Amino acid sequence: MKILLTGSAGFIGMHTAKALLERGDTVIGFDNFNDYYDPTLKEKRNEMLENYDNFTLIRGDLKDKGALEKAFDALGSGKDTRVCHLAAQAGVRHSIENPDIFMTDNIEGFANIIELCKDREVGGLIYASSSSVYGDSDVSPLSEEQNTDAQASLYGMTKKANELQASVYHSLYGLPCTGLRFFTVYGPWGRPDMALYLFTNWIVHGETMKIFGEGKMRRDFTYIDDIVSGVVASLDKNYPLEIFNLGGDKTEELMDYVKIIEECLGKEGEKSFLPMQPGDVVQTSANVNKARKMLGYDPKTQIQDGVPRFIEWYKEYYNIK
Ligand SMILES: NC(=O)c1ccc[n+]([C@@H]2O[C@H](COP(=O)([O-])OP(=O)(O)OC[C@H]3O[C@@H](n4cnc5c(N)ncnc54)[C@H](O)[C@@H]3O)[C@@H](O)[C@H]2O)c1
Repeated sequence: MKILLTGSAGFIGMHTAKALLERGDTVIGFDNFNDYYDPTLKEKRNEMLENYDNFTLIRGDLKDKGALEKAFDALGSGKDTRVCHLAAQAGVRHSIENPDIFMTDNIEGFANIIELCKDREVGGLIYASSSSVYGDSDVSPLSEEQNTDAQASLYGMTKKANELQASVYHSLYGLPCTGLRFFTVYGPWGRPDMALYLFTNWIVHGETMKIFGEGKMRRDFTYIDDIVSGVVASLDKNYPLEIFNLGGDKTEELMDYVKIIEECLGKEGEKSFLPMQPGDVVQTSANVNKARKMLGYDPKTQIQDGVPRFIEWYKEYYNIK
């Protein structure tokens, strides 16, 4: 297959691209290397991809139609082509402070991508949605049939908008579209704005850990390799129009997650327990039965194994003894 993968310098994008390159697919990466977090990390992820002969990078922005057209020219058209759209402004809190870029990058950016998928007759579109589309639902576990009309954050709203944009293009033009609702993804080369990275940084540097929701939050943490297996299976299956939850299939207490980080680092962090932040939700818990059945998705990595792998990577990356 030939795949145009947006967000290739990002956390999930890099790991997905690597898995596709390893099995011999051709990948055209697309990323603007924005500075939402340290772009050096993105450059280093990209360096790994550049080692593969079957990888090409196009630096560009989703809002730049000229750059996107260049990327679609490189992709071509037909049944063996896919767009794997993972580029987006991420983060619930970030969306409260920067509503404008979420509207442009996530909604307008998606509109540019899907319009080109249709015009160029691409074989299928697989795109990142999020568990955030469930808002602050108290249903547990969350399954795909659940109503997602009520949103708790602007970020979640943009992802819900993407699901609707995809359904329109499928019904008008028959474009195969699969949306993937990721649940708190973690692992090596992860995102510095997410809990695992932040907690590790604070403990390592002897700074007080900010623990929101008074430490009572629960999350369905999903290890990166499990997520990648779900993305790759979605690209292969290329269903006409589907939405899948991709979670770890186990809900963990945030404080248990913290305990594993402290054990790995051999150091206890000083903690400040703070109230929930606006837009955040108390619990996420994924029902992944649909993905199990239709994608053969089988999340295997527990936090007891996944967190130490992140810490190992972190120590090596920052040269910490
Ligand atoms: N990591 C998670 O836990 C999680 C959970 C739910 C959904 N998601 C979604 O999965 C996708 C990948 O997330 P991630 O964790 O790898 O995030 P990431 O920020 O590491 O990766 C996103 C990449 O997209 C690029 N990008 C952003 N806006 C762009 C634009 N306008 N033009 C070109 N490139 C742009 C960024 O530079 C970045 O490299 C995102 O769509 C995110 O919303 C992630």
